[in-house]
Amino acid sequence: MLRKILLSSLAVIGAVNAQRNICGATTTVAQTQADLDNLQNCATLNGDLVLGPALVTATINGVRTIKGDLIVANCVLLQTLQAPELASIEGKFNMTSLTVLNTASFRSLTSVGEIYWQTLPALSQLTFTATVTQASRVTITDTILESLQGINLVTVQRFNINNNRYLKEVKVQLQNVTDSLAIEFNSPSVAASFPNLVWANNATFRSCGDVQIPKLSVVNGSLGFFENGFDGLQAPMLTAVGTGTQGGDITFANNKQLTNVSMPVLTTIFGTLQFVNDTNVEDISGFPKLSVVHGSIDISGKFDKAEFPAVKDIRGGFNLQTTAEFDCDGLSSLKSTVKGKYVCSGAVTNPGTEGTTPTTGNGGSGSSGKKNSAGRFTVSKSLAATPVLAFFAALFL
Ligand SMILES: *[C@@H]1O[C@H](CO)[C@@H](O)[C@H](O)[C@H]1NC(C)=O
Ligand SMILES: *[C@@H]1O[C@H](CO)[C@@H](O)[C@H](O)[C@H]1NC(C)=O
Ligand SMILES: *[C@@H]1O[C@H](CO)[C@@H](O)[C@H](O)[C@H]1NC(C)=O
Ligand SMILES: *[C@@H]1O[C@H](CO)[C@@H](O)[C@H](O)[C@H]1NC(C)=O
Ligand SMILES: *[C@@H]1O[C@H](CO)[C@@H](O)[C@H](O)[C@H]1NC(C)=O
Ligand SMILES: *[C@@H]1O[C@H](CO)[C@@H](O)[C@H](O)[C@H]1NC(C)=O
Repeated sequence: MLRKILLSSLAVIGAVNAQRNICGATTTVAQTQADLDNLQNCATLNGDLVLGPALVTATINGVRTIKGDLIVANCVLLQTLQAPELASIEGKFNMTSLTVLNTASFRSLTSVGEIYWQTLPALSQLTFTATVTQASRVTITDTILESLQGINLVTVQRFNINNNRYLKEVKVQLQNVTDSLAIEFNSPSVAASFPNLVWANNATFRSCGDVQIPKLSVVNGSLGFFENGFDGLQAPMLTAVGTGTQGGDITFANNKQLTNVSMPVLTTIFGTLQFVNDTNVEDISGFPKLSVVHGSIDISGKFDKAEFPAVKDIRGGFNLQTTAEFDCDGLSSLKSTVKGKYVCSGAVTNPGTEGTTPTTGNGGSGSSGKKNSAGRFTVSKSLAATPVLAFFAALFL
């Protein structure tokens, strides 16, 4: 009798230990739904959970916390993945190369260490009812997601959303991005909206249809806009870009529709302000408070107006080259603030970036007529107007 009781209680302890071992495993590989069902008494899984390639439908029942990673990679048959009670993945939530996955239902999930999703060509939406509000890093690339509804973070280290060709909106309540923010190569109409973003260490917007950054005050590194489709960009609260130690540029490159940039309270740039190949920009006067530029101002294009009324110190060079007629005399007060090379040329045939020599239609140099900081003279308009002289000038300069 006693023996029997002992044995049965040992069996219970054994079962408890077995359960504990299951929940405590460093890595659990689930090849079947039955393997997943074995975990249903594990409110907390201590290690990683890896799903195997044969699963078609996978339901993770009972688990509320995964202390390691949830890895769902190369499961090419997997159509439906759900984890109704899972609230927290402390490690990485890796979904990679899931060619037919069309349902990802995580109704309780609110916290993830890192979201890394790549190549999900059948997943158009998330069922993240509770909304993920905490994640330190987010990378979502090459999916057909139409929105990021279900992910809404306040602070993040890295937020990188790229190559999601149907993604039309990225609207996130982020306040801080401590490493980098990048929205690139999604749907060309994607509206990127960060209504609460106050600072980002680095921010890059490429191929966006719209960018809203109404509260952005500081970018500690660089701020770049490349190949976007919007016609206007406002950063009404941006005061500084860069730091003394790491520099930091503002770049507008190849934004073909762009006409208007407004940064009304920007005072300091620790790197370079550049406009290049923004073929529709006619007026660069949206920097009324810009005072100190540690790098250069480097603007080339078709604009006929450019003003920097508050500039008092440009530690690098100044390069202005435009195809339009441009009166450089208007910038004469700015010229004395430039420590590096000063170039200002209108009526240039092929306006170039800093370091290039402006050329005008008749083969001569541009219309600066001003002595530059290297102590050389660039060719004046009157000289350039005489083709032979201009030719010799071009040879000797
Ligand atoms: C995601 O998981 C797959 C399979 O383990 C791995 O090859 C890949 O490197 C992981 N990705 C990341 C970013 O950890
Ligand atoms: C964001 O950064 C600002 C300034 O460093 C800080 O005051 C604020 O608490 C941060 N917000 C969050 C949500 O971490
Ligand atoms: C970036 O600048 C903000 C605002 O000045 C500051 O609070 C934050 O600590 C800086 N972040 C980094 C990573 O330097
Ligand atoms: C920072 O931003 C610049 C321009 O926006 C980009 O070229 C660079 O790759 C970014 N760096 C990091 C570390 O994200
Ligand atoms: C440029 O933007 C500013 C600020 O938003 C606005 O006041 C101005 O009218 C705009 N100019 C053009 C030409 O759109
Ligand atoms: C500007 O456009 C020219 C001609 O298309 C191209 O060669 C150059 O690389 C572009 N510059 C930048 C910075 O994208």
